[in-house]
Amino acid sequence: MTEQQDQPILACRDMSCLIKARPQPLKVLQHIDFSVRRRTALGIVGESGAGKSMLIKSIMGIAPGSVHVEGHITVDGEDLSAMKPRDRARFIGRKVGIVFQNPMTSLNPYVPVGRQITEACRQHLGLSGDAARQRAIDLLTVVGIADPEDCYDYYPHHFSGGMKQRIMIAAGLICQPDLLIADEATTALDVTVQKEVLDLLQTIQQERQMSMILVSHNLGVVAGRTDEILVLYGGHIVEYGPTSDVFRNPRHRYTEALLSAMPQMDQPAHTRLRTIPGQPPSLVNQPPGCPFAPRCSAAEGPCHVSMPEMKSGVDNRHRFACHFPLEQTASPAIRQDIITEGGLAHG
Ligand SMILES: Nc1ncnc2c1ncn2[C@@H]1O[C@H](COP(=O)(O)OP(=O)(O)OP(=O)(O)O)[C@@H](O)[C@H]1O
Ligand code: SF4
Ligand SMILES: [Mg+2]
Repeated sequence: MTEQQDQPILACRDMSCLIKARPQPLKVLQHIDFSVRRRTALGIVGESGAGKSMLIKSIMGIAPGSVHVEGHITVDGEDLSAMKPRDRARFIGRKVGIVFQNPMTSLNPYVPVGRQITEACRQHLGLSGDAARQRAIDLLTVVGIADPEDCYDYYPHHFSGGMKQRIMIAAGLICQPDLLIADEATTALDVTVQKEVLDLLQTIQQERQMSMILVSHNLGVVAGRTDEILVLYGGHIVEYGPTSDVFRNPRHRYTEALLSAMPQMDQPAHTRLRTIPGQPPSLVNQPPGCPFAPRCSAAEGPCHVSMPEMKSGVDNRHRFACHFPLEQTASPAIRQDIITEGGLAHG
């Protein structure tokens, strides 16, 4: 493997995002460190408000003007912070494709979908109208749109929600990116269509040998579709590692709570779902210590005083930030249903 192939497609090093506010800035993300290897998929999970979208927007350079981003973001070995905004936008536009949460609001209702799909490749790659059109039609076929030549000229209202999201995936792929980011890309869809679109994303990622980031508040979405998983809580990475390890043997108490809150296939009908008591932390008056402490049944003195450092399990790649982590289990048996359902048992 050459040095370039070995390099992660994306790396964030000690990245923080602050929103300008008085009397002091709001810390949306703190000390974010992770990377996405080539041809692999990373899942980013966390509750609403954890900072998932802010992380993606900061990487893409589309965070609101009130947000100040610190640290280093490297894409394909290039440090984005060293680039002028225009160069950065063009570079990111070529290397990274993105699919947002809501296809109803992401597509302009007054512009035919073909033109919306081709906009990025005309702008970033300078493709001619005909070449861009052909590329879009090919991609509409790939994402499963029948009659792509006709559909190219249709307006968004001609399509169902699932079809619109397929069109958004085509738009995300139009520059042949090395990395595709899907931020809650299936949340607005019903469960059956959600699965179809997720399966499509996974197939495309594997066939095109791309990297992918799947962002979701739902652990089930990332279960069998990612190689690694990063759990965000209150703007901090609390656990990060190979997906199968994190699912089989979560070490952080928040990850365990998230897993326990998922419906279990083998439970009798009408069993009450477990919930995580309390509320996610507010950005205002963030207390010192572990952000999960007010909701954690295992919290003790140090949890309320100091932020736990990231540490590793037996496998260096599995890391977690907890003063009192769960034990490393020799033969973990928890939540095999999610793992098997997602296909991890085979992977
Ligand atoms: N423009 C903004 N101004 C002020 N606060 C903001 C702004 N955008 C986001 N935030 C705050 O930043 C935090 C992280 O928001 P973000 O949208 O990244 O969460 P998320 O994890 O994507 O949640 P969801 O699952 O609901 O999409 C939240 O507390 C949110 O209220
Ligand atoms: S550091 Fe303490 S409060 Fe935080 S998850 Fe671990 S045990 Fe719970
Ligand atoms: Mg979001």
